[in-house]
Amino acid sequence: MKRIAVLTSGGDAPGMNVAIRAVVRTGLDKGWEVFGVRYGYTGLITDNMVPLGARDVGGIIHQGGTMLQSSRCPEFTTEEGRLKALRVLNQRDIDALVVIGGNGSQAGAHALSQMDYPVIGIASTIDNDLYGSEISIGVDTALNIALEAIDRLKVTASSHQRAFLVEVMGRDCGYIALMAGIAGGAETVLIPEVETDPETVAEELRHAYLRGKTHALVVVAEGARYNASHLARFFEEHYERLGFEMRVTVLGHTQRGGTPSAFDRLLATRLGATATDRLAKGKHGILMGLVKGEIVSTPLAEVVAKKKQLDPYLMSLAKVLAK
Ligand code: F6P
Repeated sequence: MKRIAVLTSGGDAPGMNVAIRAVVRTGLDKGWEVFGVRYGYTGLITDNMVPLGARDVGGIIHQGGTMLQSSRCPEFTTEEGRLKALRVLNQRDIDALVVIGGNGSQAGAHALSQMDYPVIGIASTIDNDLYGSEISIGVDTALNIALEAIDRLKVTASSHQRAFLVEVMGRDCGYIALMAGIAGGAETVLIPEVETDPETVAEELRHAYLRGKTHALVVVAEGARYNASHLARFFEEHYERLGFEMRVTVLGHTQRGGTPSAFDRLLATRLGATATDRLAKGKHGILMGLVKGEIVSTPLAEVVAKKKQLDPYLMSLAKVLAK
C-alpha cells in the first residue's frame, strides 16, 4: 500500500472533515500518500483529486460540511460510470479508496469493491439509517440542532398556548424524529416506521389540551406518510378540534450545517484512524462503524443488504412519556 484516496459523498454531515483529517494524518503516518477526491464520486469519474498533506487538513476539525465537497452522482450507479472511476484510480496508481458517507455512498463503495477494487467505508449520515453502525458521524450534532430548535419553539409555544409541528430530516428513517421527540418532550412523534393518521394526532393534541398543557409539540419525520405540510393543511381545516392554535417549522438543512459535537469529532477520528489501520492489514470491502462502544467492521455486502431497525422499545416509550 502506497497511495490511498478519500472522498465524501451524499448529504454532508457534521464531522466529515474530522474523518478526512484522521484518514489523511494516520495514512501519512504509515508512510502513504493520500489524495482527496473532490465532489464525491463525481470527482472520481472526472479525475478531480488533490494530494493532501498534514497541513491541508489543519483548522478543519471544528468545521461542519466537507472540505472535499460532496455530491450525489447518478453516473456512478451505472457500470460505465464505475469503469471510468476505476480507470482513473488505476491510472493514478491509487491502491485503495476510503468512502465517507451514508447508504447510497456505501452502495457505491460496495459496487466498486465487487469490481475487485479495495474500498473501505466510514459510516457518515445524519439519518442514522446505515446498517453496521449504531450511530454514524453527524447524527449527534444534527440531533442537538433539532433539539435546540425544539427547546426554543416550546418557549414561544407556551407563551401563546400553541401547538408546534416541527419537521425534521431523516429521509425514510424516523431516528432523528424519534430521538428529538423523546429528548424534546414531544406530545406526538410521527415516523415512517409507524402508521399514524392526522385524526389520531388531532385526538392526542386535544387530550393534551384538556389535560391542561400550555403547549403541544409534534415532531414529524420528513419521510412520515403525513409530513408537516400535509398535517398543517389538515389542522387548518380542523382547528376547533385541537384546542391549540398551530404553527409549523420545517428544520430542513439547518440540521446538517452545525459545528460537529465532541461526540461526532471523537467518533469520526476513531472511524478514520481505524479505516487506515484495517487497510494497512490488507482488509477492505468493509464499513467501519460503532457497535456497543467499539469500532467494528461489517462487510459492505451486509451493509447494503440489511435494513437498520429502530428500537421498538423507544418507539413505545415515546408514547408513554407524552402523558
Ligand atoms: O441523507 C441526508 C439528508 O439530509 C436527508 O435527511 C434528506 O432527506 C436529504 O439528505 C436531503 O438531500 P439534499 O441535501 O440533496 O436536499
